[in-house]
Amino acid sequence: MSAEQDLIQALEKVVELDPQNASIRTQLAELLLKAGNGPEALKHVQFLLNERPDHRAALNLAVHACELAGDHAKAGAYKRMAEALGSQLIDGFSSTPVTEQTKVQENSPDGLQFIDREKTQEQMELIPPPGLDKWRVDGSTLRLSDVAGLENVKRRLQLSFLGPLQSQDLREAFGQTTQGGLLLYGPPGCGKTFLAKAVAGELGAGFLNVAISEVMDMWYGNSEKFMHEAFEAARFQKPCVLFFDEVDALARKRSSFTGQVGRSLVNQLLAEMDGVNSKNDGVYILAATNHPWDLDSAVRRPGRLDRILFVSPPDAEARVAIAQRTMAKIPHEQIDFKWIGDNTDGFSGADMAHLSKSAAEFALAESMKSGRVCPVVQRHFKQALKDVRPSMRSWFDSARNYALFSNQGGEYDDLLEYMKTRRMV
Ligand SMILES: Nc1ncnc2c1ncn2[C@@H]1O[C@H](COP(=O)(O)OP(=O)(O)OP(=O)(O)O)[C@@H](O)[C@H]1O
Ligand SMILES: [Mg+2]
Repeated sequence: MSAEQDLIQALEKVVELDPQNASIRTQLAELLLKAGNGPEALKHVQFLLNERPDHRAALNLAVHACELAGDHAKAGAYKRMAEALGSQLIDGFSSTPVTEQTKVQENSPDGLQFIDREKTQEQMELIPPPGLDKWRVDGSTLRLSDVAGLENVKRRLQLSFLGPLQSQDLREAFGQTTQGGLLLYGPPGCGKTFLAKAVAGELGAGFLNVAISEVMDMWYGNSEKFMHEAFEAARFQKPCVLFFDEVDALARKRSSFTGQVGRSLVNQLLAEMDGVNSKNDGVYILAATNHPWDLDSAVRRPGRLDRILFVSPPDAEARVAIAQRTMAKIPHEQIDFKWIGDNTDGFSGADMAHLSKSAAEFALAESMKSGRVCPVVQRHFKQALKDVRPSMRSWFDSARNYALFSNQGGEYDDLLEYMKTRRMV
């Protein structure tokens, strides 16, 4: 079977599961037309027009489908309707550049390849919400397979978040909804942001990163408006992962806020997350924090950030991958990465990046002294290891009490388990 037919079949399944998904149906009709199957394409186009008679992309496709079927009178009628709506009929039927994810930028930081996402015809017809230009939504080509090690974390992520989102059948069988979001927590520099981008990649969704602490400063007194705009931008460009980084800055326990500003901002977040009339369909809310215990309990209620996942420090395999990635663009030779992985227990992802950079600095100093390029070798890592210390101890020191004494409902079980296996409690 050709790749095109494979795609047609896959889209047919999606349309069967999600009949109201206009953008997929449009894409399917377009593919069917390309494959020369006018009658089948017309079926989908008519479904779209029944739902929305002024659907311009569907009208354009209808013209071509009728022409393909030899029904010129009907084609003419659709054409007049399209023209009355001010739609320019486009030669060929490729009038809807639906979710084509191209323009990959090479060598972007973090192994990420951000792409300019094209909008569906339907999205192009919507009126852009105010403030949209401030909120850049990127496509992420990172996948979970790019996240090294952390098998436990990935399994739980799949089970509690991705699985239900990806399978409507399963969701219905278990009475789950797609409402609500996922809170990633753990020590700093251990891949929370990285994982969130990988989730966006897995879902084929855009990625909108909202760093709360910065934006709160920037928007002091104007924060509710900003919060609303960020949600609107994600809704406008769905499917989209809306990622709130450092969410604790925003949603610290309301009682610990002195001013009215913080309180009303939390309320705005709650209202947006509740998404009246499920307007958050296709918006996946993820948040990250190093201090989940500081979060307002209202933010953690069902339908809001109701799932929580401990992102543990990188294991040896992940540490190797991080060191390799950092060294990728630096001249190096004969480095025993496995040895490095084995000798960096307790290092975070950020510590590993720091270690590699420090090794590179030793090599650079040698190069400057000798006047020729000295690549980074094992010895430089050994030198660097004397300087760079793991940074997560203080985080675990403070997390211990919460894991032991504030673990209502077992929400910190995975943290506790991790600390137990490492004899930290
Ligand atoms: N499992 C992993 N596989 C590959 N790279 C990783 C992994 N974990 C961390 N990294 C790398 O470590 C760096 C730090 O990760 P990231 O910024 O996602 O941490 P974070 O948990 O969001 O930190 P913070 O709490 O400071 O925001 C990233 O640049 C990422 O490349
Ligand atoms: Mg982060």
